[in-house]
Amino acid sequence: MDKYDDLKKKREASKLGGGQKRIDKQHSQGKLTARERVYLLLDENSFEEIGAFVSHRSQDFGLDKVHFPGDGVVTGYGKIHGRLVYVFSQDFTVFGGSLSESHAAKICQIMDLAMKNGAPLIGLNDSGGARIQEGVVSLAGYADIFYRNTRASGVIPQISVIMGPCAGGAVYSPALTDFIFMVEDTSFMFVTGPNVVKTVTHEEVSSEDLGGAISHAEKSGVNDFTSPNDLDCLRNVRDLVTYLPQNYSEQAPIKKIRSSFDEKKTEKIKTILPDNSTLPYDIREVIDCVVDDDSFKEVKSDFAKNIVVGFCRIDGKSVGIVANQPTVLAGVLDIDSSRKGARFVRFCDSFNIPLLVFEDVPGFLPGTDQEW
Ligand code: HXC
Repeated sequence: MDKYDDLKKKREASKLGGGQKRIDKQHSQGKLTARERVYLLLDENSFEEIGAFVSHRSQDFGLDKVHFPGDGVVTGYGKIHGRLVYVFSQDFTVFGGSLSESHAAKICQIMDLAMKNGAPLIGLNDSGGARIQEGVVSLAGYADIFYRNTRASGVIPQISVIMGPCAGGAVYSPALTDFIFMVEDTSFMFVTGPNVVKTVTHEEVSSEDLGGAISHAEKSGVNDFTSPNDLDCLRNVRDLVTYLPQNYSEQAPIKKIRSSFDEKKTEKIKTILPDNSTLPYDIREVIDCVVDDDSFKEVKSDFAKNIVVGFCRIDGKSVGIVANQPTVLAGVLDIDSSRKGARFVRFCDSFNIPLLVFEDVPGFLPGTDQEW
């Protein structure tokens, strides 16, 4: 019985992460905790945790005196709409979600299992980067993660969700994955934060301008999907997964709502397309006429808007759309739109998702910037 009580106590402690005070702080900033996020992301009662009692090994800089079961990351597997996924969720209440040797080993274990069992990997990131107290041991942990990201690329879908101020090593891995989700106002991605930027280059910039959700959606194109809060973001991740197969050797699931061929809908195209080929029209209206109702999920909608890419369903089957957008720069191709299109096509190619291409393009954008 003593042992059972001991186990119960350990379980309770691991659920509290860095303690109630820090959980309250997280909530007061409009952020959910690592555990709340996992429960909302996955189907009810489907989460199986692994490594809840793992703790850090380092003894330096006072780390021998304080231990948090789980070491700042919740890892395990569960289901989304009944399909298996592997998940890690970093806990900002424990050393700012920073990555230690043990924390990295937990993430690597989940990545290995996802590869072995051919299921998507979803990372909920909320981390200040390498755990400073651990030095190079922590950095080596990043190498192990990045190596696995590259091995998994094109084999299983990898999704990164940025849900807090992610700095340093915490942002390299997401950049290697297939899709990035960000939350407005509370999530940031930067290799070096505003203070380091100011010290080194004397440039003054806010966190928001440097690496907020909007900056990465509009300027760098790193952010694929923006959400107003954690809840909406996690719902959005669940939705994206429905368009994807489990791995490179499978097909995406079929979600049949109704036959996609609707004469009234396709007739509408005539009213959208102008008689004069130099006049603009919104290609998204044409896409809506062709695909299953409300099934178009645009990717990188705020970046390189002269091309539109995203997933849809046709007769219930997942299809990738690539379309020139005549309302922006007359749909011309430039470097950003080419890279946006190419990256999306490469993903669809890796995961057996057929492409539907709408072409209406005047050519390449001329100019020195483009040539250089
Ligand atoms: C250890 C960290 C930490 C880190 C934050 N904390 N980042 N502890 N290692 N990397 C701790 C803080 O000391 C603090 O502890 C608690 O987490 C909350 O942090 P705050 O600063 O109070 O939160 P906030 O104001 O929201 O700022 C978040 C932040 C900031 C922007 C992430 O903490 C920050 O700038 N952290 C350092 C980021 C950084 O330089 N990372 C790069 C590491 S090098 P207490 O106990 O005081 O509350 C790297 C290189 C990788 O990653 C190379 C890979 C090859």
